[in-house]
Amino acid sequence: MRIIRTKDYEDMSRKAANLISAVMTMKPDCVLGLATGSSPVGTYRHLIRRYENGDLDFSRVTTVNLDEYKGLDRENPQSYYYFMRENLFSHVNIDPERTFLPDGTEQDSEKACSAYNEILHRAGRADLQLLGIGHDGHIGFNEPSDTFAKETHCVDLTDMTIEANARFFSSREEVPTQAYTMGIRTIMSAKRVLMVASGADKAKILREAFCGPVTPRVPASILQFHPDFVLVADESALSEM
Ligand code: F6R
Repeated sequence: MRIIRTKDYEDMSRKAANLISAVMTMKPDCVLGLATGSSPVGTYRHLIRRYENGDLDFSRVTTVNLDEYKGLDRENPQSYYYFMRENLFSHVNIDPERTFLPDGTEQDSEKACSAYNEILHRAGRADLQLLGIGHDGHIGFNEPSDTFAKETHCVDLTDMTIEANARFFSSREEVPTQAYTMGIRTIMSAKRVLMVASGADKAKILREAFCGPVTPRVPASILQFHPDFVLVADESALSEM
């Protein structure tokens, strides 16, 4: 595991974008695993800027996102599809046909998950998987549990996650209670895993995840076993490590 310490969120975003740009430059038809949430927004902003400057080309890139809320369609401003379109896809020359997320509108969880697994198998191992980390140690929506779920599955979101995500909705009641998420085995199969973390509120969970034992009670802790895991985090987030 490598840790890249940054000054602040902006510095973290630039350095994470550097690592992603390097993969895209070396392999124009790369597969990128992407995340939503506050942590990667700055990284996406830097990637967009580089595309605008003529330094990056998304035309042959394939993206597979970690997760999607069950029950939200693509036009719902809270859906992760909408988030990706707003924060990255609509600003770069990516082929929409090559951008994949679980289908939140599929009510049959088994169907939704096996369809997404098939997409992931077809896309092949991600060259780089970008991650944030939840306050309870979740990655994607792999919440604390007794076992590591391997492939795409439907999860009941924990109260902590619903509470944390309520900031994006007008009320807590509107936050979906379930989501489809990529499993831990798929995340671990990425050639490189890049986590971005910023802010003092992430300090405690980073210490638990990366200085404590590997356990499904702290799902991100499994990344200690990944052969090429890079944590790009700012000083506040690393303050307890
Ligand atoms: C998002 C995702 C989540 C977030 C995590 C941190 O696709 O999979 O695991 O990465 O909840 O969210 P932020 O970055 O908003 O603190």
